[in-house]
Amino acid sequence: MEGSSDIKTTSKGFHCALCNVNLPNMPSLEQHVKGRKHTTLSSVRATRKTQEEHSVFVSGIKPSITQTDIAEYFEQFGPVTEVIMDKDKGVYAIVQFGETESIQAALACVEHQMKGLKLRVKPREKREFKLIPKNKNDPKNLQQVLDRLKPELCQLASVDAQMQYVVERFQLGENEKKARGLLVNLLQEVFIEFFPDSQVLPFGSSVNMFGFHSCDLDLFLDLENTKVFQARAKSTSEQAMEGVSDDGHSEDSILSDIDLTTATPAEVLDLVAAILKRCVPSVHKVNVVSSARLPVVKFHHKELNLQGDITINNRLAVRNTRFLQLCSGMEERLRPLVYTIRYWAKQKQLAGNPSGAGPLLNNYALTLLIIFFLQNCDPPVLPTVDQLKDMACEEEHCVIEGWNCTFPSQPIAVPPSKNTQDLCSLLSGFFSFYAKFDFASSVISVREGRALPITHFLSINKEGVETEKEQPTKVPPSAPKLGPLNLLDPFELSHNVAGNLNERSQRSFQRECQEGEKYCRSLQYQHKSAKGKSWGLVRLFTPHGDVPLAKTEQLVITIPFKSASLSEGLCDHLRVVGDGFRLVWFEKVRSAVEEVLRNVLRCQVSSTDAVFGEGSAVDAAEEMETASASLNTSANDSCDSIECKSEASPVSTVVVGAKRPLSSGSDASVSPQGKRPRLPRRGKLDFPHWLCVQRHIVWAGRRKVRRELIKDADSSPEGSCAEMESQVTARIIEKEPELKEALEFKVVPQMMGGTENTRAVLKLELVSDKTGVFHDFFHFLEAFVPRMVETVLKKDGL
Ligand code: UTP
Repeated sequence: MEGSSDIKTTSKGFHCALCNVNLPNMPSLEQHVKGRKHTTLSSVRATRKTQEEHSVFVSGIKPSITQTDIAEYFEQFGPVTEVIMDKDKGVYAIVQFGETESIQAALACVEHQMKGLKLRVKPREKREFKLIPKNKNDPKNLQQVLDRLKPELCQLASVDAQMQYVVERFQLGENEKKARGLLVNLLQEVFIEFFPDSQVLPFGSSVNMFGFHSCDLDLFLDLENTKVFQARAKSTSEQAMEGVSDDGHSEDSILSDIDLTTATPAEVLDLVAAILKRCVPSVHKVNVVSSARLPVVKFHHKELNLQGDITINNRLAVRNTRFLQLCSGMEERLRPLVYTIRYWAKQKQLAGNPSGAGPLLNNYALTLLIIFFLQNCDPPVLPTVDQLKDMACEEEHCVIEGWNCTFPSQPIAVPPSKNTQDLCSLLSGFFSFYAKFDFASSVISVREGRALPITHFLSINKEGVETEKEQPTKVPPSAPKLGPLNLLDPFELSHNVAGNLNERSQRSFQRECQEGEKYCRSLQYQHKSAKGKSWGLVRLFTPHGDVPLAKTEQLVITIPFKSASLSEGLCDHLRVVGDGFRLVWFEKVRSAVEEVLRNVLRCQVSSTDAVFGEGSAVDAAEEMETASASLNTSANDSCDSIECKSEASPVSTVVVGAKRPLSSGSDASVSPQGKRPRLPRRGKLDFPHWLCVQRHIVWAGRRKVRRELIKDADSSPEGSCAEMESQVTARIIEKEPELKEALEFKVVPQMMGGTENTRAVLKLELVSDKTGVFHDFFHFLEAFVPRMVETVLKKDGL
């Protein structure tokens, strides 16, 4: 079997080229080869091969020619078993003979004349049999779509025209919309039989004006009226002691098995799944996913080749879909922007989690990011949700689950934007905006149209969100889950719609925005190539990996500000400090780094004086003063403030120049026109650096030593991980000889933030490395230091 040309031996086992799967060992390979996929593909390939060897390719025919005409003509060369015609255009056909000799005879004929047409007959091209992946997110499929799109885009006159074309190319067609409508009606008819007075309401991309071809069909099964019906039927039947309700609905249905007011969502969804399976034609692959944030029944409609999701308890989604419809109705530039950016994000694998769950942005979140950017243009392209609320009339007042969801029902109620930027500049503006956005320290509020400082949200589990205006009935709301990208739902203000993102996906999003920004400044973006080269959107859509990113190795260690991994005490502290939180946090990081170098890794560390770049000492001093002032005013009874002041002494001793008041956190917004939260002025601060001497190879064999330590009860460490790591270092130093020549290096800490992601950066500079070990040590530090700093900060008991 190994000898089969489909099976290749690899470093990790085997690879089956026919099915494109990896198998780790011989038993799994044997099982695979006997399995359905492999045997089916083998037999399909064999049939195709026979067909190829027995057929010729015929061109030069016309749509009026029938299969019978062709069969009759080619019978003169031998028995014809099949004629396959190109259905749409009818310009070519494949003629299959029963015997291979017939092919030679047909090819040997110099001229083929049939019904006045001159036919061209060629041998079939031998094509390698390949498995075509079905997944629409498969990179190969994405590439095929892009290959077709490229020439179409290149011939257009402007980026604006290209963006409009992207809409036309990808939007849901009228027939698709109709088919979806019919399916919704069918489901409605079925469900009403089982859940009287229920309603099936579509939401999401099928109806929000931003749907792509074959996007999912999201449905909300509204059972509110059914609950009323059930309660009524119950009391009636109790009175009449019969199973028939007063309005004729039979209560002898599935409903009699379940009490909707007390049933769990999972129970109701099981019922929904059973109904789908048994009663809706063409529906298959029905699955209940109870683990999702909102449990859902997934199904597939065979004939429409459509994936559907049914949720219950999802009234807010129907309302936010209305909101997106309103936005698209009041601003015609929104759709081309959303389609273009969604397609860009898909190409770069930044958005659209194929199975619903995953660490990438979902399309709803991406659309909100675009809306937020448009709210922050100068002048704004879109109003804030708060402003929309004020434009609504009394009848449009709407509260769902305690959240105020009021906005005008018609776009006409909203005054048009004064912004006249074209699509081309708005798209490049989007990239610039998020290329420099400080995600780590902001919570994006589409509701208020500004970035709220993250400090508002630290420790709110105890106290509730500080949202002054919008909570008519829901007090106190729960806290949003903070992460590397915080984007509040416009209505459900305790929901971070990007809460699923991990560090990596947030970084990729920002890095791609930076790449996008760079590209949009180039001539290839704005000017059509006279030589027919790719230009405008085409290059922007090139998937990640095709454009090699220049990577210069720098000896830099990055420690991101992660609100989710701070101690409770530190959260409280930063919250009180408000706008000056970065400096306070950074001071904590600095002392944690020093602790890690000195106590955990046992470096000999000496600290130098502050070395500030021009102007940065002033910024540092002012920022520190603002932080201290804010502490003194808002928490003058807190001893934390005094500690903070003294802890930050390396900075506070270099106060020079005049004081400049800094904007308060709540005033800070993120407009590129200067409304961005703006700490510090230059986005970077330098601090005193450390000179370090390392005499042992403390980075090698740590895991083994750690395992030994854990086994050894006597030296089993009590307390933190930092203590354990410090013991590991001590054990290595004890056992291993000293380096012949000590390694000397400098660590320069810098604080970034405000105009980019808030983070601490440690630049390493080599002073002396006679034994050539610095590179290894650096790679170890790159992962070890951020992890250890996080551990120390989590433990920080301010
Ligand atoms: P999607 O992210 O799937 O967006 O959310 P979409 O526009 O439908 O895109 P695709 O084509 O299916 O990927 C679907 C709907 O779910 C609701 C919104 O109404 C959104 O339009 N939703 C999603 C929320 O209410 N909150 C969320 O966090 C996510």
